[in-house]
Amino acid sequence: MKFVVTAGPTREPIDPVRFLSNRSSGKMGYAIAAAAIDAGHEVRLISGPVNLKAPSRADVLAVTTSDEMYDAVHAAVEDCDILVMSAAIADYAPAKYSAQKLKKQTAPFALELRPTRDILASLPKENRSYLVIGFAAETHDLEVHAQKKLRAKNCDMIVANNVSRVDSGMESDENAIEIFCRTGERKKFAQASKESLARELIKIILNVREKCLTKKS
Ligand code: CTP
Repeated sequence: MKFVVTAGPTREPIDPVRFLSNRSSGKMGYAIAAAAIDAGHEVRLISGPVNLKAPSRADVLAVTTSDEMYDAVHAAVEDCDILVMSAAIADYAPAKYSAQKLKKQTAPFALELRPTRDILASLPKENRSYLVIGFAAETHDLEVHAQKKLRAKNCDMIVANNVSRVDSGMESDENAIEIFCRTGERKKFAQASKESLARELIKIILNVREKCLTKKS
């Protein structure tokens, strides 16, 4: 199978020295890429700026902004079987980029932001030839928000994780996840290393993909 895995944060430049970003380390996405490769699959890893060594057999494409991630994903899904969107894409970018460094002021300063494009929501809704796995990073009402994203972003499956804890989720080596499928199936995983969760996820994803193929034929 051909996987496309996105990982890490995006950076939205304000001026030549500043940007807006988030705490994503990319560890979950890189673990998923490694687990897919170990299971014998091809992986194109579209990565935001992270401090991680990519799995040696991954075909890595480094991107910086949400616009670059958008273009990279749209090009990559043309030829893939499974898209895993574990990247934490910025929801807003500065409305204007300043080519010169903004000078410090003493008065309060407001930055105008524009919403970025939602990559998952922009993908074709019907007759897709690939499975779409979204992620949901939540601090509260995890199930409500995850189920909402599953439908709004037209995913086949969504992996929800609580990002309010310091010992799991963003930046941590561990995670605790709950998976919700479009078919209504769900599965909860207790806190574990991102590597072991990634291996379980790959098994589940391939299972769901198999079921979809069986249904179509
Ligand atoms: N995502 C995307 N394009 C964006 C933002 C997010 O495709 N511009 C994807 C993420 O890769 C993830 C899913 O949407 O798979 C959910 O991302 P998340 O950050 O949890 O939610 P948001 O849609 O950003 O909503 P909110 O910040 O309100 O929770």
